[in-house]
Amino acid sequence: MEAKKKLLTRRDFLVSAGGAAAGLALATSGLGILTPKAEGAMVDLPEYPWTEYFNKPLDVERVRHLGAENYRAGQGCCEGAFRALLTELGEPFSFIPPQLMNFGKGGVVAWGTLCGALNGACAAVSLVYGGQPMTLIVNELMAWYSATPLPLEAEHRSVAGNPLCHASIANWCKVSGKKASERGPRCAALTGDVAAQAALYMNQMLEGTFVPVFAMSEETKACYDCHVGGFADDTLGKMDCKGCHEGH
Ligand code: HEC
Ligand code: HEC
Repeated sequence: MEAKKKLLTRRDFLVSAGGAAAGLALATSGLGILTPKAEGAMVDLPEYPWTEYFNKPLDVERVRHLGAENYRAGQGCCEGAFRALLTELGEPFSFIPPQLMNFGKGGVVAWGTLCGALNGACAAVSLVYGGQPMTLIVNELMAWYSATPLPLEAEHRSVAGNPLCHASIANWCKVSGKKASERGPRCAALTGDVAAQAALYMNQMLEGTFVPVFAMSEETKACYDCHVGGFADDTLGKMDCKGCHEGH
């Protein structure tokens, strides 16, 4: 049991007939664990949840730097944020191929729905925490993103009002006077900021100091209480209703 608890090394993950030999070959050739060339080698990932492998605080500024750098390297916002967090979390998280999250760029292949940086950061949170801690962190991250002028250190900062790429880009264009196609440097910085915020919340959860601070506005709360599970009970969502609907 104790042995199972310790952080597994790269070579420990290799099991199967010939796994030891393959592992040795891998270790000496320096090939990545998931390279197709590792024929016969199997990756034996630890059982989920992996919460116990997140046992020391993340370097928030390093995550911010990596997120922006990953975006600039062409990975897109979603993979960029996801990869930044996996890199800083280390093994076994870093065994997950971050390309998994590439689809999320531009709010899912440019559909402008959920901001990819959020999507990727939330996926990393979900890999660390299941259940209630995940829900608390993701909820806070969604609310923080919706209400915060982003990117944090930029000349032109804008508030999305909801977690949608569509609104985020549109409001940034309005504030900056730039074209959406000029969003690269802005989305790079934003990718870093969102990944860093997720790292900050995970650190707080680890240290037992996490306290949600974002609450729904009174106005939205009233609509929500009636329309989401209340008297009308005819829709779902926690986004600020006024971004898209008139009151009545
Ligand atoms: C006391 C309950 C209640 C509250 C509070 C409430 N609604 Fe409604 N709303 C209704 C009912 C009932 C209808 C009509 C039936 C339906 O569409 O579900 C309706 C209809 C709607 C519709 C459908 C289109 C329309 O205008 O008829 C929208 C959109 C809507 N509400 C949004 C909102 C928003 C946004 C708020 C808050 C600013 C809000 N509602 C507050 C009960 C409520
Ligand atoms: C990002 C934009 C957006 C936000 C934010 C949003 N909605 Fe909607 N809502 C829509 C769209 C789009 C539809 C579908 C409208 C349609 O097809 O006519 C819709 C439909 C609805 C309907 C049914 C309308 C009808 O004609 O019967 C209700 C009720 C509603 N929304 C309530 C809310 C409430 C309450 C909130 C806040 C908690 C909210 N919405 C937030 C975009 C939004």
